[in-house]
Amino acid sequence: MDYKSYFRPTVDAMGGYTPGEQPKVLDLIKLNTNENPYPPSPRVEEVLRDFDTAKLRLYPEPTADSLRDVIASVNGVQRENVIVGNGSDDILTIIVRCFCDAKRKMACIDPTYSLYPVLGELQGAECVRIELDDDFSLPDDILEQAAVANLLMFARPNAPTGNLFPRERVEEICAHFRGIVFIDEAYVDFSENNCLDLAMRYPNVIVSRTMSKSYALAGVRLGYAVANAKIIDGMMKMKDSYNVNMLTQRIAIEAFKDGEYLRRMVDKIISTRNRIAAALKELGFTMVPSSTNFLFVSPPDGNGRLYFEELRKHNIIVRYFPGKKTGDYARISIGTDAEMDRVMEVTRSIYGAK
Ligand SMILES: Cc1ncc(COP(=O)(O)O)c(C=O)c1O
Repeated sequence: MDYKSYFRPTVDAMGGYTPGEQPKVLDLIKLNTNENPYPPSPRVEEVLRDFDTAKLRLYPEPTADSLRDVIASVNGVQRENVIVGNGSDDILTIIVRCFCDAKRKMACIDPTYSLYPVLGELQGAECVRIELDDDFSLPDDILEQAAVANLLMFARPNAPTGNLFPRERVEEICAHFRGIVFIDEAYVDFSENNCLDLAMRYPNVIVSRTMSKSYALAGVRLGYAVANAKIIDGMMKMKDSYNVNMLTQRIAIEAFKDGEYLRRMVDKIISTRNRIAAALKELGFTMVPSSTNFLFVSPPDGNGRLYFEELRKHNIIVRYFPGKKTGDYARISIGTDAEMDRVMEVTRSIYGAK
């Protein structure tokens, strides 16, 4: 049958976003999508156990006010400053749809979370790529390069590199950029500081967070953004009416209230991360200082792809990002201590004797 495309030319032309592999085989050590290796707060299990399934016939709270109140109180802001999404990916989609189109460009650093430019493409918005310096720091002229755009997006800590741009630098960008500055804080719970206050102090700043990493709730899909009430109001117009389902709202409320559990799991992951970073350095690996739950590492021979492939042969999946700046590295999510010990065992078998 002859096929004529019914799609918009932009959709036909684009490649789409490729998410990290979610293999079905269970005997793999899965360290490729920065999930948390530990279970979520025990309160989540209680919610699921006590949940009245008859309630599922009803729609969820459309504006998720109960959940937004909890998020607001955890972060010391007001409900009007918070919007929730079906994962932070949903928040990203809402933002790009709000601030970009064929006339309003977006700008994002490179490398960073590769979904940003894909969302720009979908929106028919040109994306200005701003290359990071060789050490993955922000270039001096980022403001000049971004000046043509209405939205500047970056992750802090950045992904897949893991480093934390200096706060003063970020604040300077917020103060001088004429459009919206979007700071993706997906990994912030593993880092030394955050930029939430900038979203409250500058009218053009949006900060987003997710429960997918530190809260061990990637499957539940809950992300949120914080900004001034006018920005949040506008974003609410763009979101789907029921973008966060009822179960997710309930689960998220309880998980947010268990700050003690969060801290304990995050501390454990950071301590494993630091131990593995030291062990890899001893083997001659170089790496970007990590403020996240992953390590972006380059093996002694600089062949990131080979390291990725060798680990794969031993049933360990990490992530490889081909490219001029990223190709020398592999990104390893931090797993349990036992999983990371296995990574070290295999890594020593490859590089130890050389
Ligand atoms: C920088 C960054 N932002 C956002 C996300 C998406 O997170 P979520 O699961 O909340 O959609 C990821 C996921 O890996 C990420 O690395």
